[in-house]
Amino acid sequence: MSSTELRLAVIIASVRDGRFGPNVARWFAAEAQRHGGFTVEVVDLADITLPHALPAVSPLMDPNPERPGTLPQLTRALDDADAVVIVTPEINHSYPASLKTAIDWHFAQWSRKAIGFVGYSGHSGALIAIEHLRAVFSELDAHTVRNYVSFPRYFQLFDMTTRELIDPTGPNEAAATMLDQLHWWASALAAARRLPVA
Ligand SMILES: Cc1cc2nc3c(=O)[nH]c(=O)nc-3n(C[C@H](O)[C@H](O)[C@H](O)COP(=O)(O)O)c2cc1C
Repeated sequence: MSSTELRLAVIIASVRDGRFGPNVARWFAAEAQRHGGFTVEVVDLADITLPHALPAVSPLMDPNPERPGTLPQLTRALDDADAVVIVTPEINHSYPASLKTAIDWHFAQWSRKAIGFVGYSGHSGALIAIEHLRAVFSELDAHTVRNYVSFPRYFQLFDMTTRELIDPTGPNEAAATMLDQLHWWASALAAARRLPVA
């Protein structure tokens, strides 16, 4: 799609036993590859030990604290990324605690990056979770793109045997629109990150 290839991390937020998230992420990662503007890396939070005890000091005092366990793998992926897409369900009208922990162990890695969302859940299609995430990423100096992909009652939209979308037409279009926005913002922010910080 574009001559400028940017790096996109797709994060699977749910770590729940029996989770559906990896199926949504597989579909989206394929669409991101098809878009052609990004090198795509999928990061599954279930593969990462996520310590709930956060760093001793705030990120303004130490933006890169020593990180335990397998967190450096996540840190490296976020460091490398120009853009991040969060694949999230909704849990009690917000996003999963696993994702909040992964977010809160980082600061510089989010700053001045472009963030997009793919939501799936029972009723809302994770729209409330996505709006909560926008507030969090605003504090982290990241830019969330306007368009998103949402799957309300995802179990009616995906074939529960093959775990593929029954009719991918609308979701593929929504993904393409979001990826175009993400690419524009990620390009602009990659250039802006080369400028001195005001
Ligand atoms: C504890 C819990 C709370 C949930 N709360 C909501 C909710 O507030 N809104 C909603 O639309 N779906 C809700 N759901 C449905 C989940 O979004 C759905 O189960 C989804 O499949 C979870 O993602 P996962 O399968 O990848 O773990 C909830 C599910 C659980 C287990």
